[in-house]
Amino acid sequence: MESPFDVLGISPDADDGEIVDAYRERVKEAHPDQGGSTAEFQAVKTAYERLQNGYEPGDPLPEESPAADPEPEEAPPEPDDPLVEFLNFEVLEDHGWSLDDEDLFEKAADANLRSPDFGQFYVDPNDTLLEAAEKNGFAWPFACRGGACTNCAVAVVEGEMPSPASHILPPDLTEKGIRLSCIAAPISDDAKIVYNLKHLPEVSELLLPASRFEQASSTD
Ligand code: FES
Repeated sequence: MESPFDVLGISPDADDGEIVDAYRERVKEAHPDQGGSTAEFQAVKTAYERLQNGYEPGDPLPEESPAADPEPEEAPPEPDDPLVEFLNFEVLEDHGWSLDDEDLFEKAADANLRSPDFGQFYVDPNDTLLEAAEKNGFAWPFACRGGACTNCAVAVVEGEMPSPASHILPPDLTEKGIRLSCIAAPISDDAKIVYNLKHLPEVSELLLPASRFEQASSTD
């Protein structure tokens, strides 16, 4: 069996950040929806979990120690979990791009942007978009986590993300695809999302200050 380092394509002395970056890249490549296979996807997840659990170079792997207790493998995410491609709104401002640009995400891909400004993650069916972002290690803005402050606003550029009935956004913004990531999640197979939309003027004028809520994001 390949070592977890080989599976993720990193050297045995890779630090935690390099391991996480390599995992995020490999798990996308290996996902069945992206041309990989279930076996490859599972191998990448298993390798990452072993490294998270303290695997060191030279430690025996299951095939090399048949007497070891079999470890229960975590089931991979359902292949049909929504895949979100995200982009930081502040990048649009820096590059002079617009939410209305039809090729916005193509331009972002060509600009060699990196996480956390640009990337992808899957959304578990039980999670809101904000929860999914946080599970994947991203600190997206929030304050109330209940649809009342607009700090978590995102723009749905592509895909479907229904908006719950009760929230602070006016109809003209929801008609433009603005959603609150703390109370909504995509339901389409793929979605393109611009986050950090609190800097958009129409959204910023609705903001309630994060100081009114106990667990506000430090990105304010
Ligand atoms: S965090 Fe306040 S509306 Fe989402």
